[in-house]
This record gives sequence, structure tokens and C-alpha cells, in this order.
Amino acid sequence: MAAFNHIFHDLSEAPDLPSPWETPQWVSYINYYAGKLSRVTMADRARELARVIRFGNGLPRTMSPLKELVQRNHGAPILDVGGGFGDNFILLRKLLGDTPYTVVDGAESCRIGMQLLGDRVRFQTDMPTEGQYGLSILIGTLQYILDSTPFISALSGLSSDTIFVSRSPLRRTGDDFYSVQEIKAHGQADSAGKCVVRIRGVANLVGDFARGGFDLVEMKEVLSYRDQMSALPEEYRDCAYFNMTFRKSR
Ligand SMILES: C[S@@+](CC[C@H](N)C(=O)[O-])C[C@H]1O[C@@H](n2cnc3c(N)ncnc32)[C@H](O)[C@@H]1O
Repeated sequence: MAAFNHIFHDLSEAPDLPSPWETPQWVSYINYYAGKLSRVTMADRARELARVIRFGNGLPRTMSPLKELVQRNHGAPILDVGGGFGDNFILLRKLLGDTPYTVVDGAESCRIGMQLLGDRVRFQTDMPTEGQYGLSILIGTLQYILDSTPFISALSGLSSDTIFVSRSPLRRTGDDFYSVQEIKAHGQADSAGKCVVRIRGVANLVGDFARGGFDLVEMKEVLSYRDQMSALPEEYRDCAYFNMTFRKSR
């Protein structure tokens, strides 16, 4: 379980830490996870069936709204920021057909993604500077993008209809704060290092999207983060993962 022990109100107070996303520990995890996603065993099928029964459509809770969003998107290009080696793409693959799909992530994730998926997915380490994406996805990534206000402005400019945000701890009320997270991949003993995260206040996040021309049309809490925040003063603990769908204002 991720645990947060620090609070910084300004990024200048936070330590300058090297990125954990290119370390041997993280690369070893993504190689392992990529192998697991591409070699489906009978045990995996049984687990998948249990997941279908629990969450519907075989997609975990943070992914399940995407089925409907992919259908609404009607094959327009998709942009997946922090999309790893294409893990979200692989989970959505059956629904996507030939939909153009672009992943923005670090060099190692892109390298492994290209090995696994060839040119079916476009992998790049920088945000596109042009183009229009019918559906933009930000899963498990927003907290690591520290300059998130200009980032959201750029993402909004590239998005023509829907932006889906999920699996990032957000503070239900109050201002943003920064903390430090130890990055330990699920089921792995070794730490990939620590990194500074920005926990956005919900109202601030919604305000950034509104300034980019996007309205919040759906928001659902999927996981309380109160336990992970239990070392922080009480007023900072009210955090959770939400599935949030933003739609371009008409
Ligand atoms: C916790 S992983 C999420 C991976 C996967 N998409 C998922 O849903 O589990 C966070 C991902 O965000 C990426 N990331 C971190 N900072 C980023 C940034 N500024 N721009 C794009 N991706 C970033 C990392 O490389 C990593 O792949």
C-alpha cells in the first residue's frame, strides 16, 4: 500500500528526486507485467471470469467506464498519457478495432511497448504538439505530473470530445499539496525509488479543465485513500481515487 508521510505546500519545498520510472526495478516490473498480459493462462482466464462477475465486462473498476467511452468515440484517435507499455491498450484491445492509439510515457515504457505491440500503437516520450484526439486517457498518472495546470491546458487543446481521468488520489476539499511516494510495483519487493507527487484538490482540478473548455460530466469515487494518508494531519486525509469524465463544452 502506498503511504504518504510528507506535506509540502509549494513544489520548491519538496526534494529534487530522480525519476523512478526508468530504474532497473521499474523496468523489471513492466517487463514482467508485459509478459503476463501477453501470455494468458487458464488461471488468468478463471481470474478474469471472477473479475467479470465482480466488475462487469471484464474490466476493473477504474477501467469499466472506458468501454462506453470507446464506443462513443467511434474510432477517433485516442491519446493515453502515462499509458505505460500499452497496458491500457491491451486491456481495451478487443473494443478498439483499428482506432489510432498514441501512448505518451517514459523511454523504457515506450521501448518495451514497441517491442510488444510493434507499430499498432504509436509510442512517444513527449506530448503531441498537434492533432485532435476524440478520447484522451489519464490513468494512474496525474499525480506524477507536477506542472499539471499547463499540462491540462495542453491536453484540453489536443482533445476534441472526452477526457477520462482515473486512479490518481485527489483531495476531496481544500487546496493541492505535494508529498513523496515510494514507488513499489504491485507484488514486487524492491523499491523503484521515491518521487514527488502532487495531490490535486477536486475543485482546483475541475477548474483547470473548465479553463481548458471541458466540463465534468461524471464523477464516481472508486477507492478511498484515507488509509494511505493516515500519517498526515486529519485535514489532509480525505483523499480518494475517482473516475472522472470531462466533456468539451458546446
Ligand atoms: C503508476 S504508472 C501507471 C501505468 C499504467 N498506465 C496504469 O494504469 O497502471 C504511472 C505511469 O506514469 C508515467 N509518467 C510519470 N510521469 C509522467 C509524465 N510527466 N508524463 C507521462 N507519463 C508519466 C510513468 O512512466 C508510469 O508509466
